[in-house]
Amino acid sequence: MIAETLSLAGDKLTLRPFTLEDAPRVQELVSNWNVASMVARIPHPYPDGGAEEWISGHNERRASGDSWPFAIETKKAGLVGTIGLSKTDGSSMEIGYWIGEPYWGNGIASEAARVLVEFAFDILDIEKLTAGHFKGNPASGRILTKVGFLTVGEDKRFCLARGEELDCIALELTAAEHRKTR
Ligand SMILES: CC(C)(COP(=O)(O)OP(=O)(O)OC[C@H]1O[C@@H](n2cnc3c(N)ncnc32)[C@H](O)[C@@H]1OP(=O)(O)O)[C@@H](O)C(=O)NCCC(=O)NCCS
Repeated sequence: MIAETLSLAGDKLTLRPFTLEDAPRVQELVSNWNVASMVARIPHPYPDGGAEEWISGHNERRASGDSWPFAIETKKAGLVGTIGLSKTDGSSMEIGYWIGEPYWGNGIASEAARVLVEFAFDILDIEKLTAGHFKGNPASGRILTKVGFLTVGEDKRFCLARGEELDCIALELTAAEHRKTR
């Protein structure tokens, strides 16, 4: 059993569980078209109380093994974004993330992804990670390929903020492929 309070340390950031005290900060960072329009499930405009409701569900989802959501925190700026894993089927989980726009371009998502991938394979013993990014989001593709994800196809995914389906690149990383790169 993995502690629900588990935090993961990187060089310049920590991944830790959210608390309700984080809600105003999440609300502030996520109420941004440039973030919401690049992910599948964040509405825009973001509803009042949305962050509190989202964080309130974390303990239950973590306890059931359905998801592992982490706040990304840096010493300098505090909470700057989120990264997490959600169960897709018995043996695989999907990785998802966003960084608040003022903090883009500092290597934060790249490092958070590296830490989370190690956690998924070394601690959770996941067989396969999946990921997807909209075609218009090459920065996300770059983050995923840097940690070893390989493109496996294309599909269409609904973007809640845009209210339409968008072309999406699908990627995967298996535990076996990950071991080869270490
Ligand atoms: C995509 C996102 C997570 C990137 O976060 P970040 O902390 O700025 O990312 P990093 O600084 O770690 O790395 C970005 C990488 O993309 C590259 N990049 C940036 N813009 C790019 C572009 N237009 N084309 C190709 N690569 C690009 C950068 O050069 C960097 O790669 P490098 O380290 O090899 O130089 C952030 O912009 C974000 O949250 N966007 C909105 C939400 C989102 O897209 N979430 C992911 C959904 S799949």
